[in-house]
Amino acid sequence: MDSLSIQRTAVVGAGTMGNGIAHVLALAGYDVALVDLNGDVLDAATSTIASNLDRQVDKDRIDADDRDRALDRLRPTPDTADGVADADLVVEAVSETQDVKQTVFAELDRHAPDHAILASNTSSISITGLAAQTERPEQVIGMHFFNPVPVMRLVEIVRGQRTTDATFEAVDELARDLGKEPVEVEDYPGFVSNRILMPMINEAVFCVMEGVAEPEDIDTVMKLGMNHPMGPLTLADFIGLDVCLDILEVLHGDLGDDKYRPCPLLRRMVTAGQLGRKTGEGFFPYDE
Ligand code: CAA
Repeated sequence: MDSLSIQRTAVVGAGTMGNGIAHVLALAGYDVALVDLNGDVLDAATSTIASNLDRQVDKDRIDADDRDRALDRLRPTPDTADGVADADLVVEAVSETQDVKQTVFAELDRHAPDHAILASNTSSISITGLAAQTERPEQVIGMHFFNPVPVMRLVEIVRGQRTTDATFEAVDELARDLGKEPVEVEDYPGFVSNRILMPMINEAVFCVMEGVAEPEDIDTVMKLGMNHPMGPLTLADFIGLDVCLDILEVLHGDLGDDKYRPCPLLRRMVTAGQLGRKTGEGFFPYDE
């Protein structure tokens, strides 16, 4: 199947990443069923997409008709079976937990049409392991977007052990059609992005724990000295400290090297519920 035949899509999980992915698919002209079991999350996602589209209209990036057509293509539903029933492509964006994702993949395999590609937005979990939950491992692939999805141009496209060239090419072409720059990577823990990013964030947390410098100053070093748009601690707060910890656990467990061991301070903050921007407090305070 080639991506010209991808027209109907479903995004499963309507959190930050899921609603961003639904936003870019709908804006590029694809029909999107946005699935979340939690009605409050679904309502919040729909209004986030509307306000992010409004922001693009205000900045003259798109016009009001583009926004209205994108919103018309979006169908929120709390029913997974209904959402994926006629999808050519399903993008899974549920929480970054292996058991949860594996259960969701088995469910998607039962309800999506036989020809559908099942993609995961996972940032570190094995695509081959998710594919093994299905009867169609050749049509399972990683499609890893970056937050904020409407702004960030990268998509890491991750080939599982049994992903076919046809699946890869369909997803690669779709990513380009969304205005993204796809990069092909193999299925190893953390892929490329988080294999490099998370050790940097973890090291910044060690610098806080060991009192090397204040959090603001650590971020200033990386912003002004390395031209990063956000310092590593602000970025960790933006991603969510729980997500950073989950990814580090995968790197540490699956690669087995202690250089990936999560910093105890990161673990302590997650245990205390200081998860970053989404809880109003991480390395820095946030006003909603
Ligand atoms: N939807 C639509 N547009 C948005 C947006 C959204 N959610 N968020 C920001 N924008 C737009 C703004 O309107 C603005 O548009 P113009 O250029 O047209 O003016 C532009 O993006 C820049 O935004 P701001 O002016 O508000 O703020 P900024 O210049 O400080 O940029 C940022 C904000 C883009 C987030 C920038 O700080 C940045 O690039 N930070 C790094 C982000 C990053 O590293 N993300 C990856 C995280 S890792 C990940 O996602 C994956 C993982 O596996 C953990």
